[in-house]
Amino acid sequence: MSAQQSELDLPLLYETPALWAEQVLREPMALLNDHAHLEKKAATNALELLTRWPEPNPPEHWVKSMTTIARDEVEHLAVVTRAIARRNGRLAKYHRNDYAGSLHKLVRRGEGPLDLMDRLMVSALIEARSCERFELLSRNCPDQELQELYASLWASENGHYRIFIDLARTMNPTEAVEARWAQMLQDESRIIEEQPPGPTMHSGLQ
Ligand SMILES: [Fe+2]
Ligand SMILES: [Fe+2]
Repeated sequence: MSAQQSELDLPLLYETPALWAEQVLREPMALLNDHAHLEKKAATNALELLTRWPEPNPPEHWVKSMTTIARDEVEHLAVVTRAIARRNGRLAKYHRNDYAGSLHKLVRRGEGPLDLMDRLMVSALIEARSCERFELLSRNCPDQELQELYASLWASENGHYRIFIDLARTMNPTEAVEARWAQMLQDESRIIEEQPPGPTMHSGLQ
């Protein structure tokens, strides 16, 4: 783990090399388009989780966490789409993200609290990876405005990562949560490394 990654205090097992940022920043508009769609999906995900609070816990803290995240993600979406518009670009209508798709396949669907715990962990992983990559982009971006955008985002995504993993940890006996989290971290490192190269937030190296 590099000094810089330990400063972010992320548990990720695959460390993205700076070369990745250099490669994706060759196509900043495509990267912004992918990024905008990810913000939209992050907002939708938080709203989807909003009514899935674990019984019999009271939902107040849960609902507050999800509305806070959804609001942040919509704000990020607005900032990114403004950056696209200022560069005379246009948001594409369709988007796919095989990285997130593969992570969501890990969820033990229909298994009650385990299903929910997995969803929280997948959300935490996506936020943690976004945090890592925004920070890398902020250090390698030659465009001043985009550099500031990426620098402003990584701390916010770091906060979201913490909210999701803290909620997951309230759900089950500690041992079960930690064993599952260790497995999920392994799976995420494999999935991110398998991604093909390209100007997207979750791409692999060329
Ligand atoms: Fe975001
Ligand atoms: Fe986020």
